[in-house]
Amino acid sequence: EKGGFDHFMLKEIHEQPKAYRDTMRGRLSDDGRSVALSELNITPEQLRGINRVHIVACGTAMHAGLVGKTVIEQLARIPVETDVASEYRYRSPIITPDTLVIVVSQSGETADTLAALREAKRCGARVLAITNVVGSSVAREADDVIITLAGPEIAVASTKAYTSQLIAFYLFGLHLAQTRGTQDEAFVANVLAAMQALPEQVEKILAQAETIKGIAESISHHRSLFFIGRGIDYAVALEGSLKLKEISYIHSEAYAAGELKHGTLALIEEGVPVIALLTQEELYEKTISNIKETKARGAHVFGIYNEGHEAEVAKSVDRQFAIPRTLPLLTPALSVIPLQLLSYYASLALGHDVDKPRNLAKSVTVE
Ligand code: F6R
Repeated sequence: EKGGFDHFMLKEIHEQPKAYRDTMRGRLSDDGRSVALSELNITPEQLRGINRVHIVACGTAMHAGLVGKTVIEQLARIPVETDVASEYRYRSPIITPDTLVIVVSQSGETADTLAALREAKRCGARVLAITNVVGSSVAREADDVIITLAGPEIAVASTKAYTSQLIAFYLFGLHLAQTRGTQDEAFVANVLAAMQALPEQVEKILAQAETIKGIAESISHHRSLFFIGRGIDYAVALEGSLKLKEISYIHSEAYAAGELKHGTLALIEEGVPVIALLTQEELYEKTISNIKETKARGAHVFGIYNEGHEAEVAKSVDRQFAIPRTLPLLTPALSVIPLQLLSYYASLALGHDVDKPRNLAKSVTVE
């Protein structure tokens, strides 16, 4: 049942190229140059009338929503807020009829997410669900549904569901952009072409799992570490940190790279591992200078960056891992893969139950 892998988590990490292809399949026009999300009931006119978007979810799904925020804001220029479902419900969010609420849930049964969906509907918003389970409560109660086609996810730590949610956000962001005319045809076609290259690029990363394994073994002896990044890299840093805590029980914190010097830098001392994401080229120099701040205090830095920057990165980090080149908005679909492998191999090195970490359940149906 584990298809030759030692754990479901590793199997599911390796299923990501297929999950990307399956989630994209049938959702592009015949010539592959535009998005065709024919499952949506929401009309083009209604899509044009949306003035704000709220993305609501828990845990890893919320982290996909943080990437989704950047995707929708950049592609469709609509203001987006992403919130944790257990907070959203209780802060009397400003929901108007021109608000689109997007709930994201692998299982479609998470209690807080479902309650947020109901609250949004009660306030008159339209709800779009991104879920992996057809017929789940979230799928049944939402006005529109985009099913991620990740296939069943068994490991408690979510991997392929998260990346499929990213694909769903890219497709929906492009769909909004096409409909609202915020991006031209050539732009959309270019993003879709880059998306279609992602599965093979993920394969390339997976083929280098041994490199990540070595790094995982070296961090597994540490009690605490940091993940840093800017922009969309920060969203991925949060997911990398959650994954590591969840299955390896090593404490870590994700920080917006520029925010370190406002307090957290005090915790960086000799030998503390810092995992730095450097995929956004326009923010590159800024992040490098934050890396230098940590190195000056003895941090041991592991950099994840775009292929082609080896020479510059080598000067500032101790160990490095290059991801294949893609568009800046699409890098999370690649950069999260080494982080998933890092937590898997760290958990393995420490002898923990990778697929069933302590204190956690796959589907959280209590509030
Ligand atoms: C972490 C993880 C959890 C879930 C969260 C929401 O790896 O799996 O953080 O993402 O419990 O679950 P769903 O997506 O089923 O609503």
